[in-house]
Amino acid sequence: MITKYTLIMCEIKEQVANGTLGPGDKLPSVRQLSERFSCSKNTIIKAYNELEKEHLIYSVPKSGYYIVNEYRSFDNDKTNQKIDFLSAGPDKEVMPYIEFQHCINQAIDIYKEELFTYSDQQGIYSLRLQLIKYLQDLQVFTNPERLFIVSGSQQALNMLVSMPFPNGKNNILVEQPTYFGFIESLNLHKATTFGIELTMEGIDLARLEYIFRNNQIKFFYIVPRFHNPLGHSYTNEEKKRIVKLAQKYDVYIVEDDFLGDLDPNPKADPMFSYDPSGRVIYIKSFSKIMLPGLRLAIAVLPNLMINTFLRYKFSSDFNSSALSQGALEIYLKSGMFSGHIKRIRGLYHRKMQLLQEACEMYLSSNTSFSKPSSGFYLTIHLPDQVKARRMVDLLLRENIYVDDAIRMFLPEYRKENMLRLSISQVNENQINQGIEQIARCVDFICGKKDYIFQSPSSLL
Ligand SMILES: Cc1ncc(COP(=O)(O)O)c(C=O)c1O
Repeated sequence: MITKYTLIMCEIKEQVANGTLGPGDKLPSVRQLSERFSCSKNTIIKAYNELEKEHLIYSVPKSGYYIVNEYRSFDNDKTNQKIDFLSAGPDKEVMPYIEFQHCINQAIDIYKEELFTYSDQQGIYSLRLQLIKYLQDLQVFTNPERLFIVSGSQQALNMLVSMPFPNGKNNILVEQPTYFGFIESLNLHKATTFGIELTMEGIDLARLEYIFRNNQIKFFYIVPRFHNPLGHSYTNEEKKRIVKLAQKYDVYIVEDDFLGDLDPNPKADPMFSYDPSGRVIYIKSFSKIMLPGLRLAIAVLPNLMINTFLRYKFSSDFNSSALSQGALEIYLKSGMFSGHIKRIRGLYHRKMQLLQEACEMYLSSNTSFSKPSSGFYLTIHLPDQVKARRMVDLLLRENIYVDDAIRMFLPEYRKENMLRLSISQVNENQINQGIEQIARCVDFICGKKDYIFQSPSSLL
C-alpha cells in the first residue's frame, strides 16, 4: 500500500525532475501542504524529513524547506562524467548557499543602506570583533585595530609585495614550489625573489639562515599548513625555529594559513602564535572554507604597518564588499559557521584519505606522492621521463582533469614532472577510477602498456 507521505515525496521529486521546482526554491509550508493533501501536519513533516535524509531538500530554522539541488538519477549519468582533480574551489555539495542566502537577507534587514554605501576601509568594526573571537580558536590572539578585512587573501598578498616594510629591505623569499597567484604578483611587480626548496620533509633550515643572513629579505612568504601544491605542513618545532631565525635577521614572515581550519591536529599552532608582536603577518582566506565569491579574507598586521597598509587598501578598492561582510558577521554570530567548519573538516579529511589509499593501490613504484593529513592538495611525482604536461593532455581525453605544477615554480627551480591533484571537487566515488587511469597513463608513457585507456575512442 502506498502511504500518503510517500505519495507526497513522489510528487515533490517529480516537480524537481521536470523543473517545476529548482535549486533554492522554497517548498510550501507544512500547513499549506497538509490542507492540500487533506492529511495531518505530521504526515507532511515525515515526508519532508525523508526528503531531507535523501539530501533533496534542506531546512532553514524559522524559515522553511528548500530544494537542495536538481534531482538527478546518479546511476544514469555516470558515463562521460568529468573526474575533477583540478578545481580548487570548495566542494559544491557542502557550500552553505542557502544558509548564507538567509544571512544576506538578514544583513540587509539589519544594516539597511549601510551595506550599499562606502564603509570602513579596514572592515566593518562589529565583524572585526566577531573575527577576533574566531581567530582565538586558531590560536591567533590580536585586537580589531590590527585586523583588516581584505577582498580575498590575494589582495593582501599583492599589496604586501609592493609595500615598503619597516625593515627597509626589498627582496622576497618563497618556498619552492608555491602558490601560483603569489608568483604572479611577484612577476607583475618585478620583485627580486629568492626561493628555498620545500619537500614533504620540510626546508633546509641552515639554508634558510644563509638566505636570511645574506640577501636583504623583506619577508618570507610561507604556507605552513596543507601547502599549495604539495600538501605539506610544518611541525610546531620547525615553525618556532623559522620564526626565531626571522627575529634574528630582521625578516618578516607572511603566513598564509588558507586552510588552517581543516587541521585535524588541535595542537598545531600557527606561526603567528610564536611571535604575536608583529614579526608574523597572518593571512586567512574564507575562500576555501566558505564561498570564494564573497571575496573575503583577514590580514593581521603589526602596529608599525597599519597606516601604510590602510593607504594601500584605500587606493586598491576603498573597502571590501560590505554586503559580504554583513552576511559573514551574521553567519559567525549565529553559530552556523562553526557547524559548517566541523562538517567540512571531516569531509576533506576523508576525501584525502581515500585519495591516498587509491594512490597506494594503483600507482607503480616509479611514481611517488605526497601524504598530507588533510587539506585540498596532493602532488604526484612522476618518473623523470614523464612530463606532467603530456599527462594533463592525455587524461583530458578521458575527462580526467589534473594540473601541471610547472607554473608554481620560479624558473630556476622548475620541475616538469609534478602533477597537482585537488580533492575539493572530485566525487568520492570517482577517486579510485581517476587514480587508476592516471596510473595507466604513467605506465603507457613509460612504455609498460601498449594503450592507455580501455575505451576504444582513446586508443592512440
Ligand atoms: C595558498 C593560497 N593562498 C591564497 C589564495 C587566494 O585566495 P583568495 O580567494 O582568498 O584570494 C589561494 C587560492 O587558491 C591559495 O591557494
